[in-house]
Amino acid sequence: MKRPAKPTKKENITILAIETSCDETAGAVLVGRILNKKPEFKFLSSVVNSQIAIHKKTGGVVPEVAARAHMTNIMPVINETLKKAKITLADLDYIAVTSGPGLVVSLIVGTEFAKGLSLSTNTPLLPTNHMEGHLYSAFAKRASEIKFPVLSMIVSGGHTMLVLMQSYKKYKVIGSTVDDAAGEAFDKIARLLQLPYPGGPEISKLAKKGKQDVNFPRPMMNMPNFDFSFSGLKTAVLYYIEKLTKNGKLKLTAQNKADIAMSFQNAVVDVLLTKAIKASKKYKCKTITLSGGVAANQPLREALRQACADHKMKFVVPDHELCTDNAQMIALAAYFHLFNGGRPKTTSKVKADPAWEIH
Ligand code: KG4
Ligand code: ZN
Repeated sequence: MKRPAKPTKKENITILAIETSCDETAGAVLVGRILNKKPEFKFLSSVVNSQIAIHKKTGGVVPEVAARAHMTNIMPVINETLKKAKITLADLDYIAVTSGPGLVVSLIVGTEFAKGLSLSTNTPLLPTNHMEGHLYSAFAKRASEIKFPVLSMIVSGGHTMLVLMQSYKKYKVIGSTVDDAAGEAFDKIARLLQLPYPGGPEISKLAKKGKQDVNFPRPMMNMPNFDFSFSGLKTAVLYYIEKLTKNGKLKLTAQNKADIAMSFQNAVVDVLLTKAIKASKKYKCKTITLSGGVAANQPLREALRQACADHKMKFVVPDHELCTDNAQMIALAAYFHLFNGGRPKTTSKVKADPAWEIH
C-alpha cells in the first residue's frame, strides 16, 4: 500500500532522522503532533556514533575517511535507534535526512541510505537542512514557551550565523561570517597550540589556566552590520606566537599557551556577545537562543545568559548533546517543517547538496 504524501489526521506522527553531514553518524526518533496550534513532540531515542577517535590521528576530518566510517556505521546506528525507540520501520510516518550543507561524501552516505529506506518501505522522505537542525535544536525543550521575536545565534564548525525568527516558520539570516566560522577558528588556534582535534573543548579547558589577557583584536565588532570575521584574529594569534617564539626558535611555555587560549576565547566571546545583543536590541527580541557545536562553550553560554538577564530577555541554550552534531536536531527541523505546513519531497529527486544554505 502506498503511504500518503500529506500528513494524515493521525494524532501522532513518527519521524526517523538520519545525520551524516560531517563526522558523526547519528539517528533519532521523534513522535509529535503536527495539527496542533502549539508544537508538541518527544524523542523516543537518539544515537550518536562519533568519529573523533579516528580523526584525532590526522588532526582533522579527512572527508573520504569520514564517508567510509559512515558507511560502516550507518546500519548499526539506525538499527540501534529503532531498537531504543522500541519501534520498527513499519511504524515510521516519515524519514528525515540531512542532505546539506556539509561534506559532500559524508552527506551522500546518509542521503542515499535514507532514499533506499524510503523507497523500500514506502515512507515519505524529508530532506533536511543541517543549519535548520541547529536552529530548531534550541526548541528541543518547552518550545511552546519560547517568545518571539527570537534572535538565534548559531555557532558551529562550518558556520557563524545570526538568525531573526518571527515565528516557528518565519526566519531570516541577518548576519554570517565573511571568512572562518567560530568553531573553525577554535580548531585552527588549537592546531597552532598543538592541541588535539577537535580544538574547541581543548581551548576552553586550557583557557581556565590563563592569567594574562593578551588583548587580541575583536574583528568587525563595532561595525554596524551583523556579520563576523575570525580569520584576522587567527592571524593576530599566529603573529603573537611567532613573536614569543622568535619565529620558532623558542618553545611556548605552558603558561603562554594558557594565556593565548584564554585571550583568544575572550575575544571570540566578546565579538559574539556584542553582536548578539546589538541585533536583539535592534529587532526588539524577547528571546536569544544559542546553538551549534561552539554553544557547548561554557564562557560563551554564561556571558550570553548574564547579558540576557541584564536586558530582560529569555535565554535558551540546548543541552550539550544537542549542541554538537546529532540527529535529534534533524528530527526537530523536519518536525517543524511539517508543523509549518511543509511536505515531503519525491524521494528520487532528493540529492545531497553540500552548498545548501539557509537565508
Ligand atoms: O555543530 P558542530 O558539532 O559541527 C558542525 O556542524 O560544524 O560543531 C563543531 C565545532 C568544532 O569546531 C568544535 O571545535 C566546536 O564546535 N566546539 C567548541 C566546543 N565544543 C565543540 N568550541 C568551543 N568550545 C567548546 N566547548
Ligand atoms: Zn553542525
